[in-house]
Amino acid sequence: MLTTERLTLRPFTSGDAEAFLGLASHWDVARMTSDIPHPLTLADARIWLQTAPDEARFALMENGRLIGGAGYFQHAPEAVEVGFWLGRAYWGRGLATEAVTSVVGYGLLHTRTAAFTSSHFTDNPASGRVLAKLGFEPTGTARIHSVARGTDVAAICYGMSREAAMAHLGITVAGSAPAPPTPHDSTKREGRLASLFGKLRRSA
Ligand SMILES: CC(C)(COP(=O)(O)OP(=O)(O)OC[C@H]1O[C@@H](n2cnc3c(N)ncnc32)[C@H](O)[C@@H]1OP(=O)(O)O)[C@@H](O)C(=O)NCCC(=O)NCCS
Repeated sequence: MLTTERLTLRPFTSGDAEAFLGLASHWDVARMTSDIPHPLTLADARIWLQTAPDEARFALMENGRLIGGAGYFQHAPEAVEVGFWLGRAYWGRGLATEAVTSVVGYGLLHTRTAAFTSSHFTDNPASGRVLAKLGFEPTGTARIHSVARGTDVAAICYGMSREAAMAHLGITVAGSAPAPPTPHDSTKREGRLASLFGKLRRSA
């Protein structure tokens, strides 16, 4: 479980299905994602909530209420693809930036992620702004399938190295040597990260 100033991030459970359905069945939400069907049924919701072994997905909770989701899956041997969404009523308060900052921190601290990727459809500038605020850089374009729209949609792709993420989050690492960190360096990095993410906690 992770905590931020306003949110708690915890694993999804099957008990989230109805709340997820209420949020993700909104066309404005589903159409901006690649994998949320529209219309969305309770059966779809239950399937969507099942997390694969190569994923780290978090339910975003505000005052005990599900408001969205954020996380990543292993996209390439050395990179994870970050995704996020909020229920329509929760947009415009900086909550996605807050949540995904915590998710990137989790990737740095707990899964030692080497690089982060993400993407958004070209008609979704708010998502691009979230990624820019997090330090992601555009890397190209692609056509990505949207289950809700039932077609491939033009998208902008982004990337961010581990070092860039650490720098963006205010962590300086001596040198930018590509060599793997020694146990000593690793401990120092972990210490800095643990300090930076004072509120970032793992439940077990
Ligand atoms: C994208 C989404 C997660 C953003 O959530 P949010 O909590 O409103 O995001 P934040 O408030 O942290 O940041 C949004 C930024 O985009 C900006 N923004 C909002 N609408 C915009 C628009 N039409 N054009 C340009 N920028 C826009 C905001 O001003 C803000 O930037 P700022 O802090 O510099 O002012 C939310 O709109 C959403 O869930 N959309 C549907 C699902 C989705 O798109 N998921 C992402 C798939 S890649």
